[in-house]
Amino acid sequence: MPSAAQPKPLIIKLGGSVITDKASEGVINTKALSGLAEVLASVTGPLVVIHGAGSLGHPEAKRWGIADGVTAENALGVYETHEAVSRLNRAVVSALRDAGVNAVSFPPFASALTENRRIVYAGEEQIKELLLAGLVPVLFGDVAADRTQGACILSGDQIAPYLAAALGAERIGFVTASGGVLQDGLVIPEISGRTADSVAFFKAEGADVTGGMKGKIAELLLLAESGIESQIFAAEDLAAFLSGENPGTRITS
Ligand code: IPE
Repeated sequence: MPSAAQPKPLIIKLGGSVITDKASEGVINTKALSGLAEVLASVTGPLVVIHGAGSLGHPEAKRWGIADGVTAENALGVYETHEAVSRLNRAVVSALRDAGVNAVSFPPFASALTENRRIVYAGEEQIKELLLAGLVPVLFGDVAADRTQGACILSGDQIAPYLAAALGAERIGFVTASGGVLQDGLVIPEISGRTADSVAFFKAEGADVTGGMKGKIAELLLLAESGIESQIFAAEDLAAFLSGENPGTRITS
C-alpha cells in the first residue's frame, strides 16, 4: 500500500572536538553532550545523528596506522579504535535517551563498506526503515571494512553527506568547535566551490587522521553540488539552526 510522503530527514553531525576533550585522550565532555542532547530533543521529524571521535578513536587510529589499511601487523588497532569510538557512542546514545530522544546505536563498523576509503554503502536501507519506525539512528566516525585495503577510518564527515544524499535530506548541520570556517579569526558566512581555494583552512589541534576542517569542506562541497546545502556552526547555535536560521558557515555549490 503506498504510504503518504514522509518528511525529509534532518542530519546532524556532532564534531568530536565538541563532545570530547581533544587535548586529553579518552575524556568525554559530558556537559556539552547533555546540552546538545536537550536541544536535539526538540526535533519532531526524522533525525539521524552522527558523531565524531575526538580524543576517543583518533589517537588509537593514528597509533596503529588504520587509515592506511589493515594487515595482521596492525589488526589489534581495529579492535582498539572501534572500542574507543564505541565507548563514546554509548555515552552519546545515553545522553540522547536521557533527554527523551528515541536514539539507537548504529555502528558503521557493522554496516558500512568502503572502497579506496570512499563509501560504497553506509546502511541507508536499514536507516530508512528505522526512521519510519520513529527511531533516531546514531552513527559515528568508525573503522570500516574496505575492499581495497582491508579496513580504513571512515569519518563522520564522509558519512553525513553520503547519507544526506542517500536519504534525500533537506538540511545537514555540523556542530564544530570552531563555529564555522574561519579566516583571520572570523567565521566566513558562506563558502562555495568557486571560493573554496581562496580560504586558508582552519587547522585543528591534536591527532586527527581524517583531515580536519579541510576534509569536512571537501565533503560538503560534494554535497552542495548535488543540491543539498549544509551549515557548519557552534554548539550554542544548534537551536538557531534547528529553527531554520543560518548560523556559522553555509556551504553552497
Ligand atoms: C573519526 O571520525 C573516526 C576515527 C578516528 C575512528 P570523525 O572524522 O568523524 O571524527 P572528528 O569529528 O574529526 O573527531
